[in-house]
Amino acid sequence: MILRSPSRRDATLILAGALCTHLLTILAPFAPQAIVISHSLKGQVILEHPVPYEQAPDALPEADILGEDIRLSEEDIDISSSKPAVVFSETTLVEHVPGWTVFRDLYMFNGTLLIVSSSPSSFPEIRYMTSTGLAADVTPANIAAREPTQWNMDILSPEQAAQRWGATTENRKIMSVEGNTLLFNDPPQFLAHYYHFCAELLLGAWSFWTGAAHPNPPPPIHRAIFPHSSAAGWRDHPGFNSYFLRAALPSLTVEVDIDWQDRVVATAESDVDRAWHFPYLLLADRSAAFRGRLCGSTNQRTASESVDGLIARSKLDVGGLWWRPIRDAVWHFAGATENVPGVKLGGHLDEEYEETDKFTITYVSRQRTARRRLIPEDHELLVTELEALVARKNAEMTLTKGKEWVLNIVRAETLTKNEQVRLASQTNVLLGVHGNGLSHLILMPRTQFSAVIEIFYPGGFSHDYEWTTRALGMKHFGVWNDTYFTQENTPKVHYPDGFQSSSIPVYGPAIANLIERRIMQEQS
Ligand SMILES: *[C@@H]1O[C@H](CO)[C@@H](O)[C@H](O)[C@H]1NC(C)=O
Ligand SMILES: *[C@@H]1O[C@H](CO)[C@@H](O)[C@H](O)[C@H]1NC(C)=O
Repeated sequence: MILRSPSRRDATLILAGALCTHLLTILAPFAPQAIVISHSLKGQVILEHPVPYEQAPDALPEADILGEDIRLSEEDIDISSSKPAVVFSETTLVEHVPGWTVFRDLYMFNGTLLIVSSSPSSFPEIRYMTSTGLAADVTPANIAAREPTQWNMDILSPEQAAQRWGATTENRKIMSVEGNTLLFNDPPQFLAHYYHFCAELLLGAWSFWTGAAHPNPPPPIHRAIFPHSSAAGWRDHPGFNSYFLRAALPSLTVEVDIDWQDRVVATAESDVDRAWHFPYLLLADRSAAFRGRLCGSTNQRTASESVDGLIARSKLDVGGLWWRPIRDAVWHFAGATENVPGVKLGGHLDEEYEETDKFTITYVSRQRTARRRLIPEDHELLVTELEALVARKNAEMTLTKGKEWVLNIVRAETLTKNEQVRLASQTNVLLGVHGNGLSHLILMPRTQFSAVIEIFYPGGFSHDYEWTTRALGMKHFGVWNDTYFTQENTPKVHYPDGFQSSSIPVYGPAIANLIERRIMQEQS
């Protein structure tokens, strides 16, 4: 629902078309990306060929619209040979921040990602794009072991590539993996966890995918590859990762480690030197993201490199509107669509809040099952205070015709996935102890008073839910017993003894007061 200007876009299209027709026929032999391999072709000129988009002309409309990528079709090229030879396209960098990179025309041989380029200096340092994909800890040996080697990624000149894989159509040994690919280079360590998978990896990937295509809509995604994970490795215990991925991207095909090995073996253990070609690919790498400034030294959120990095380049909107296609797809999947609030889109961000006719507080209680939980009496007092607040507000509402207040006290594990999503789709204030129970914040509507209240062991703080809440345009409040903090006074990351405690204190009246005085104030 991002507003765009059709007239400008049309103009670009027309311009691109005109350029293509009238200029490129003349300029083609001198186009900088053309690969000229005269020795093997007796002077014949080989031009970059639009392999990826041929079979799916409408899959990537932005290839034409962007103008930066005006491709030549064989009809456009007037060369004397009856059969124009097709080799491969040089790799180009569409967008990059540490840990997130979109390439056109990336290659793979023997598990090594290969950039084919006559200007290697136009690419960032490889350590900001990839790693060995090993599980991470903070020992110096492990940090060193995650630094990429030439076996993880390498750069070849077009001549080297042509020498290895053949230059002509007839002996072509480049297999194109048609369509658009997400390549998640991470080990299962952080995959099998709803927060890290959906609220960090997918959120980061989608933001980057959207921003890289800016100002055009994001192209479809055809497959995701997890080269270091088994089929079970990316699935979390409650099953939310697979639920979410299938709901958000129903056409997506998933490949895992054994599938990747098939591709590796097909190149390396063969008497034919062949390689795979990925026309359009997003490479995500957690270790590489941690080498960036935002993730590495500010908030430890890999998605921040993408979201904050692309906001700084004006490729992404502030306030998380870019996330809505994913969120709305999951709502729809869960049958929450009837509850989708009215959307009011305007030129200014403040006008793009969603409307709800109720004010809904959802307290996710982890008292029965989770290790990290509240002191039982504090939990009881919190419930009493919330109930009293809601009863009082509804009594006032009868007088003032205001919004109806709703309180849900839930133990997520007693609800189905559909019920959990539907609940999140109606929640304005999500309240709970620091932990995965707050991950559903990525499915909340963004209203004027949408907020997440996260209870920490006093003195403790980490950015996981705080950054994610703000990235999606909502307010975050951290609570230490009877005090709270928010963006203006967020503390330093700290994991005191007790951070994982099963007797975390919280003062219920302080939370009720925070909701009534601070959050509802945002309305006026
Ligand atoms: C394939 O990669 C491995 C390292 O992962 C390397 O030891 C081996 O020599 C490579 N094989 C070829 C044919 O390049
Ligand atoms: C929490 O706050 C309440 C109210 O100020 C106070 O009575 C209680 O002692 C505090 N608990 C802790 C553990 O600090």
